[in-house]
Amino acid sequence: MLSSLLRSALVLAAVCCLTYAESVITCGEKIQRLSCDQGVVSVLTVFYGRKNRQTCEEAIDKDKLENTECSKTGAFEALANRCNGKKVCEVDKEIFSDPCPETYKYIQTTYTCLPAHHVVACEDSEVKLSCDSGQTIALIGAFYGRTDRTTCIYGVPDGQFNNITCSTPTANQVVTERCKGKSNCNFHAKNSMFGDDPCKGTYKYLELAYMCKYHRVVSVLPVAYGRTNRQTCSEGKPSGQVANTACSQSGALEALANRCNGKIVCEVDKMIFGADPCPDTHKYTQTTYKCLPAHHVFACELSTAELICDSGQTIALIGAFYGRTDRTTCIYGVPDGKFKDITCFTPTANQTVAERCHGKSSCTFHAKKSKFEEPCRETSKYMELAYKCECPL
Ligand SMILES: *[C@@H]1O[C@H](CO)[C@@H](O)[C@H](O)[C@H]1NC(C)=O
Ligand SMILES: *[C@@H]1O[C@H](CO)[C@@H](O)[C@H](O)[C@H]1NC(C)=O
Repeated sequence: MLSSLLRSALVLAAVCCLTYAESVITCGEKIQRLSCDQGVVSVLTVFYGRKNRQTCEEAIDKDKLENTECSKTGAFEALANRCNGKKVCEVDKEIFSDPCPETYKYIQTTYTCLPAHHVVACEDSEVKLSCDSGQTIALIGAFYGRTDRTTCIYGVPDGQFNNITCSTPTANQVVTERCKGKSNCNFHAKNSMFGDDPCKGTYKYLELAYMCKYHRVVSVLPVAYGRTNRQTCSEGKPSGQVANTACSQSGALEALANRCNGKIVCEVDKMIFGADPCPDTHKYTQTTYKCLPAHHVFACELSTAELICDSGQTIALIGAFYGRTDRTTCIYGVPDGKFKDITCFTPTANQTVAERCHGKSSCTFHAKKSKFEEPCRETSKYMELAYKCECPL
């Protein structure tokens, strides 16, 4: 398949802010406390065991310092699962099983405090996670149980908040599955959501934190369709079909960019390049692309997309698509036959949206046929677009 040749040659990692790491070492039975004045805990590294004689050397029995190769595997997962997303987190060695009973061990943790939306919801209440449209929820951590006697105690009988060693190991996973990738996520914080009640008789709460992240969309860099060497995609081909190494389709970049820019996923084949530049040659598509953080919007046919930048900023369109290339988007309530054709698109969609929205600070766009050239009358279509907000020069 040609599309399998689409590959990422460039990965741009946007690391713009230096994060400050806190470091804590906790000896033996003591309690480790991680806390954030601002933001929430995000655990970076965890070690539980012993790797030298000096750390926590106050042990009474010096024999217990001998083994310096004791390390608990899975320590990071255990601590991150318990503490990520909390403002304060206290743990002790009980959250790990013992990797070397004869050794006096310590917990060595580094963590950072991330700015985040922080939510605490008492048992049986509603939880709402919400990001701007065009952004998605990235969960930092979720906790369900009880680890203090101050949260969610108003009107609760005494005995029901005494157990402060209660936690559900699956809370983070459950909330992740429910909310990941969405821009809004609502649910009821109750036992049944997390499987079993982790501590019957105790009134619990859910604590979680999340960030709102921009989607990453495709932005196509150089594209070649044709053949420029004898080796690529040559397996099993007669030499006559790989001999012409000067075959290249002009306009390949425009064709692919027009089709894929601004989408989260894009599959194409050679049909998008139109005329065949060299019919006797076995050709291939070679693409590099990057993933840009951007506002990303879907609008089903007849609905409206809103493009919004802060005032003072302007919309820079990355790409706009109108048509249908999958059978999963905008199908609710649509009769079967109307989403079968998945090779439908308007080549001028980007231009149409750009004329109306590019350079403005906000813009609403109604996704309907009359706005676009009709690409496939019988098919129910949708619009997909992505844009950035730029400060004018
Ligand atoms: C708190 O609940 C947990 C889980 O049910 C249980 O293992 C633990 O013994 C309880 N602790 C106290 C002090 O009751
Ligand atoms: C869409 O239009 C904008 C504005 O004219 C332009 O900057 C962008 O490159 C276009 N995208 C594609 C894929 O042609």
